[in-house]
Amino acid sequence: MQKISKLAVLTSGGDAPGMNPCIRAVVRTAIYNGLNVVGVKQGYKGLIENDMYDMNKRSVSNILNLGGTILKTARCLEFRTDEGMETAYQNLKAQGIDALVVIGGDGTFTGALRFSKKYPDIQIIGVPGTIDNDLYGSTYTLGFDTATNTVIEAIDKIRDTADAHDRLFFIEVMGRDSGAIALRAGISCGAEAILLPEVETAIADLIASIKTGHLNKKSSSIVIVAEGDKHGGVYDIAKMVEKEVEHYDIKVTILGHLQRGGSPSSFDRILGSRLGFAAVNALIAGETQHMVGLRANEIVLTSLEEALTSHEFKLEDDLMQMAHILSI
Ligand code: F6P
Repeated sequence: MQKISKLAVLTSGGDAPGMNPCIRAVVRTAIYNGLNVVGVKQGYKGLIENDMYDMNKRSVSNILNLGGTILKTARCLEFRTDEGMETAYQNLKAQGIDALVVIGGDGTFTGALRFSKKYPDIQIIGVPGTIDNDLYGSTYTLGFDTATNTVIEAIDKIRDTADAHDRLFFIEVMGRDSGAIALRAGISCGAEAILLPEVETAIADLIASIKTGHLNKKSSSIVIVAEGDKHGGVYDIAKMVEKEVEHYDIKVTILGHLQRGGSPSSFDRILGSRLGFAAVNALIAGETQHMVGLRANEIVLTSLEEALTSHEFKLEDDLMQMAHILSI
């Protein structure tokens, strides 16, 4: 087995709280093992533009508590082309880099897998970093816990004003095609209804349950809508309901990018540390084209291929049913 001597670390795609603790773990684990480490700025864009710098132990001091990513991130279209990949490869070779840790979501892993198949002499390990919690092979992705807590804090505040005014709020949360944030936040905030991309919600049933809530003397109602829901967006849903529900004043809030920022939770700091540590150890052990993840509190490796093509977030029906019963 060929031994690696210099690795590069990058963050790519949407930033997620926990990326900085992960970068810190990668850098310090690598140095502990006698490896040189390079930080790549702005994900794959930095590989193509040769925007990289040597990192040492102090390069990652006092970043555990920071949201975002000190390496910055980007969604890079050029890396999808053969020319872009070739330039990135030549830049890596010129610097003597033989291993790569990529922290990101499915777009990041798709790029990593293609690159690794083309240039297998660069070992690659992926770390799941996305607030969406939508990658197979890890029960939790970096940033999901913090983002869910941010959503909960916001919805608790909205509940205060909803209750004061007897209002019905429709609140849109992020997640792309995943309802993971919506479901967890919905349970945590006692949402009267949770609309997810994974489940077809009948608008007639939604209206009926809001009316029943009012008859049961509910002073406010919160409906959480995941951004990927198939009804055409939170405003369209609110309009459909408004026609049928007269007793509540209806308001819409889109939480947007505030969900991506903020200091990582304890869970995401520890997860980032564990996954970064595991990623470097996997590279040292000769692994490549794999993702490190957490399952049943154990670190596991899943091939990038499987992480991208299998689906883990089957909606937990038991949680949906429970959420419904507990919010009556
Ligand atoms: O993947 C993370 C995420 O925040 C999704 O939940 C959302 O759909 C998307 O990124 C937004 O992307 P951008 O910040 O590029 O608009």
